Amino acid sequence: MPPELPATPKPPELPAVRTTDLSRVYGDMAALSSLNLTVNRGDLFGFIGSNGAGKTTTLRILATFLTPSSGRAEVLGHDVVRDADRVRHLIGYMPDFFGVYKDMEVTEYLDFFGACYKIPSSQREKTVADVLELVGLSEKKGALIGALSRGMQQRLGLARVLIHDPQLLLLDEPASGLDPRARIEMMAVLQELQRMGKTIIISSHILSELQSLCNRCCIIERGKLIYSGPIKGAQMQLADVRAFWVKVNGPLAAARDLLAARPETASVESGEDRLKVVLTDPAGDPSYIPETLVNAGVRVMEFREDEIGLEEVFLRVTKGETQ
Ligand SMILES: Nc1ncnc2c1ncn2[C@@H]1O[C@H](COP(=O)(O)OP(=O)(O)O)[C@@H](O)[C@H]1O
Ligand SMILES: [Mg+2]
Repeated sequence: MPPELPATPKPPELPAVRTTDLSRVYGDMAALSSLNLTVNRGDLFGFIGSNGAGKTTTLRILATFLTPSSGRAEVLGHDVVRDADRVRHLIGYMPDFFGVYKDMEVTEYLDFFGACYKIPSSQREKTVADVLELVGLSEKKGALIGALSRGMQQRLGLARVLIHDPQLLLLDEPASGLDPRARIEMMAVLQELQRMGKTIIISSHILSELQSLCNRCCIIERGKLIYSGPIKGAQMQLADVRAFWVKVNGPLAAARDLLAARPETASVESGEDRLKVVLTDPAGDPSYIPETLVNAGVRVMEFREDEIGLEEVFLRVTKGETQ
């Protein structure tokens, strides 16, 4: 038996995107200030911020269309300025507004972009058919682009950025202006692409759009990062209010008075058949709620945390911050 070779240490996996103190100014206006962001491979990453927050600026830098004023950005370990050509082959960038050639047929359009990426003509037909299948537009391959619905045109835009099989997709508000059905179709395509192993960064100013789609997110405001991590964590970290619902077997008013008398309670509201208790200290221990009631002989039927929607958290943290 050959002697066992020591295992070669695996190089640490490079993140899909890493920015270091990334900044961009327009004149004397800072559109992006010292952004430090990591997006892991395989993430479906929500890039969230209200209008003017700096989303498009960041995505354009990652897509090599705009140079940083200072700091740096890397895509799969490649610097977006020094190694721009390499980066362009690794990414598919879908801008917030892109022109479509209304008089072109769907297949012609994709074939044209395939040629731009120097995909040999012998392979292009299959590549075009594959990306159309992926975005659910196979049946429209002979249609004129101008005759497609807005949702279909957006999915065609997505097909276009998939033509060279990029590893990272940068999608700038791809669902904006779509009706709910078209939005759901777009989201389903993105989930499929994530299952295929692509890393996807999708920007939006509509948080609820991304809440159930993305595994991780960041929130930026006026060019500054205010949160980065799991979507669920954003609620925990940014919520400055914590409330609990409690249902009792007995008169609500008595239970209400018991809880309102406690210093840990900021306020108590009566719902139809339960009480909503807001804590004075969001980090405080809520177990005093059932304890207080049980000690007073009140039976607690249900006790649970009030899940503050991410949308609500977002609205609160970004309140008045838009430019
Ligand atoms: N070419 C430009 N010249 C001057 N200011 C710009 C330019 N592009 C963007 N800005 C400003 O930079 C800030 C960030 O814009 P942008 O990145 O487009 O934000 P978002 O995509 O989040 O709406 C905004 O205040 C915007 O007005
Ligand atoms: Mg934008």
